Amino acid sequence: MPARLLVTGGAGFIGANFVHHWLARHPDDRVVVVDALTYAGNLGSLEGVRTHPGFRFVHADIREQQTIEGLLADERLDTVVHFAAESHVDRSIAGPDPFIDVNIGGTHSLLKAVRAVWLEGTGEGAECRFHHVSTDEVYGSLGPDDPPFTETTPFAPNSPYAASKAGADHLVRAYHHTYGLPTSVSNCSNNYGPYHFPEKLIPLCIVNLLLGRELPVYGDGLQVRDWLHVEDHCRGIESILDRGRSGATYNIGGNCERSNLEVVQAICHHVDHLFAGRESLGQRFPDCPAATGEPCADRITMVRDRPGHDRRYAIDAALISAELGYEPGVEFDAGLSATIGWYLEHEAWWRAVMDDSYRSWIDGWYEK
Ligand SMILES: NC(=O)c1ccc[n+]([C@@H]2O[C@H](COP(=O)([O-])OP(=O)(O)OC[C@H]3O[C@@H](n4cnc5c(N)ncnc54)[C@H](O)[C@@H]3O)[C@@H](O)[C@H]2O)c1
Repeated sequence: MPARLLVTGGAGFIGANFVHHWLARHPDDRVVVVDALTYAGNLGSLEGVRTHPGFRFVHADIREQQTIEGLLADERLDTVVHFAAESHVDRSIAGPDPFIDVNIGGTHSLLKAVRAVWLEGTGEGAECRFHHVSTDEVYGSLGPDDPPFTETTPFAPNSPYAASKAGADHLVRAYHHTYGLPTSVSNCSNNYGPYHFPEKLIPLCIVNLLLGRELPVYGDGLQVRDWLHVEDHCRGIESILDRGRSGATYNIGGNCERSNLEVVQAICHHVDHLFAGRESLGQRFPDCPAATGEPCADRITMVRDRPGHDRRYAIDAALISAELGYEPGVEFDAGLSATIGWYLEHEAWWRAVMDDSYRSWIDGWYEK
């Protein structure tokens, strides 16, 4: 029987990739996206599924419990994939309140809605699944020789963002244990790929290079992250929805530890190479250093470190591999090169999301 999904935050980076992935692989399913369209939510990222018969977009906040309950009941939704969040660590340092309100309060509001409809309404809870998308940042920071995070690593969040995600993870766990809500949680590493808002490291560096700007790197640039292509992340979530245990938590990683400096240098190398082989790129992006043969790496600028910056994250993904047979498939250099290619081909998308006039451009094709 076709599944009926509520995807929260489906106009954001990972949510939009997930909606594309899901409808391509499950064309008969119903996918209702709820998104508040904050600065990070972009309907342009869903343009490709806009006319899909199974797709519906609802402009709403996950904290509007009555709206969510109405959608769950009216659409007979049996699966929630919960991406909606405030997601940028730097913003959480500058102003933590929305992170607590949305990531903890919003997740709790969703859980209350799902409990009311699935457990106290139709009684179909056993057939349903609430999947919460979380981060490896809840586990804190590793030293250079520490073993990677497992699902039983104690939580030690260091930023307001990580703390708010940890709070949400605990609430999901509590709703499973206390009320018997069928849940699952995935904690994944740093994603990269198409539709990534250009405030995060990889798209920021790509766009900055194309516009001839500096490439800011925090501190000594030796902070290590594990990089996961967003398509692999979507496949990982799909495997959990398909055959993951209710009540379980799974780590999803890319088996790809890189320092931030290495990532930025790799972007520079790819852009140098691409511009050297295609004269037309230099004409389209004349401010890019590579357009005049200047090495892009010359634009790397070390800037003051982020307060409390975690040194290293690494994921042990043995559980999802052993239990669900899931492995990431996209090799980092190939994934990075394809991502740069995507930004080169989708200049209108990134220029639009960086421009307020984009808001009027998208008016008119979604419901409130
Ligand atoms: N990006 C990563 O590398 C990464 C890594 C691990 C975990 N995660 C988690 O994955 C999820 C998605 O991350 P992302 O990078 O796609 O984030 P994003 O910031 O790109 O997208 C977030 C989306 O949520 C929407 N949203 C925000 N507040 C909302 C609210 N109150 N109601 C409804 N919608 C709201 C925004 O409009 C946006 O579309 C988040 O929960 C994040 O914590 C992300």
